Amino acid sequence: MVKLGEKQQCPHSLLPMRKDFNGTFINGNKAMSHGDLIAYAWLFLANIDLPTRFEVNAHFSLVNGVPGKAFCTRRLEGETPIKMTSEEHPIPLLAPYRMGKFHLSHRIVLAPLTRQRSFNNVPQPHAILYYSQRTTKGGLLITEATGVSETAQGYPHTPGIWTKEQVEAWKPVVDAVHAKGGIFFCQIWHAGRVSNQDFQPHGQAPISSTERPLTPQLRSNGLDMAYFSAPRMLRTDEIPSIVNDFRLAARNAMEAGFDGVEIHGAHGYLIEQFMKDQVNDRVDHYGGSLENRCRFALEIVEAVTNEIGADKVGIRLSPFAGYAEAADSNPKSLALYMAKSLNEYGILYCHMVEPRMVKPGEKQECPHSLLPIRKAFNGTFIAAGGYGREDGNKAVAEGCADLIAYGRLFLANPDLPTRFEVDAPLNKYNRETFYIPDPVVGYTDYPFLERDP
Ligand SMILES: Cc1cc2nc3c(=O)[nH]c(=O)nc-3n(C[C@H](O)[C@H](O)[C@H](O)COP(=O)(O)O)c2cc1C
Repeated sequence: MVKLGEKQQCPHSLLPMRKDFNGTFINGNKAMSHGDLIAYAWLFLANIDLPTRFEVNAHFSLVNGVPGKAFCTRRLEGETPIKMTSEEHPIPLLAPYRMGKFHLSHRIVLAPLTRQRSFNNVPQPHAILYYSQRTTKGGLLITEATGVSETAQGYPHTPGIWTKEQVEAWKPVVDAVHAKGGIFFCQIWHAGRVSNQDFQPHGQAPISSTERPLTPQLRSNGLDMAYFSAPRMLRTDEIPSIVNDFRLAARNAMEAGFDGVEIHGAHGYLIEQFMKDQVNDRVDHYGGSLENRCRFALEIVEAVTNEIGADKVGIRLSPFAGYAEAADSNPKSLALYMAKSLNEYGILYCHMVEPRMVKPGEKQECPHSLLPIRKAFNGTFIAAGGYGREDGNKAVAEGCADLIAYGRLFLANPDLPTRFEVDAPLNKYNRETFYIPDPVVGYTDYPFLERDP
């Protein structure tokens, strides 16, 4: 730096001085080997968030004037999300990512996982430890499916968020996740016909888009059978009140301290019962055409977005799956229609289950890919279903998804991001304890990686 602010070719180096000096050497040059710390002047002047920009390898604002002129001092805040391809990052899943206003430190998301340990639909103190075990600073977590109303339930001991007691019970769980720097979304859900009268108020029939009942099914623990009562088809004039239940649940989630909500539009539950043509046999303006079948889902998106803000709303969809006898004859059109419609609401993220997950928990060869849908959707795209470390890294590096949600692996490995970072072996999950009510076994007793003291 012979002249102020101008780099010139020169034969000298600071290395001999750095070697002769015993203390910390602060260098104004680029090579760390020539200094312990590097001082930045012009770049820091024009980029007030310079360390963050280095971390995520973002572009710089340039010093575009002489001192005294207005420099460009934009923050990363407010800029479009950094869709870092992560090609440069040695472990793409561990590359940071900006999701709206949330600064994620990595891309490994806790997928929503029903654990059936919320007695009487109220989250219990043991959930505090369970979720905080899976929290990392800057990591995104999604809760288990959480009922929006009394009629939303279909399983024993799943949590709700429609009463004051439930909201209060969620608060310490949310606080524990926040205390460790996690970002926590609540998955809001209605089971629809995937229920039976035992779970319904006054023993009434479950509600749905149809009157067609589900046949008994092997539960996803692979062990016991689930039986379902014949549903009652919702009347057209009743639908706004169900939409309103989702709106109130979103409001309650914010009251409980969550950072946002994920609308559960997947896996054959109520919203999918409307969306998919093999279930929905309505003749009103909620049935028939693709547009009509998606109306219920989009009304919920609109209501929730108006209530809490689009920047706090995500949705989970599984257009290609056929869980709970909910398949569609043209899943790609359904997925694309939803992606494009969701853009109009500007919601934060779309979380999609991979087409290969045709049956719960089972990967199958399949000709479909989420890529066209990911390209059609403007916000953050989360993919889930059957991912491991290698294909998760590949999906992120190749831009097939921004984030990957892990279900069973995260269930059994509370420190999954660390394990992925050091490429450690993984604990195996035990299906038999997925849904037992024990507050510890199969819940908070999966071991962490042993680390050197
Ligand atoms: C025990 C268990 C509970 C689940 N509960 C939910 C749930 O509440 N909501 C949901 O959308 N998906 C749920 N799923 C599906 C997972 O979120 C995930 O999509 C699925 O396990 C596939 O991902 P994986 O291969 O990473 O496990 C559940 C899966 C398991 C194994």
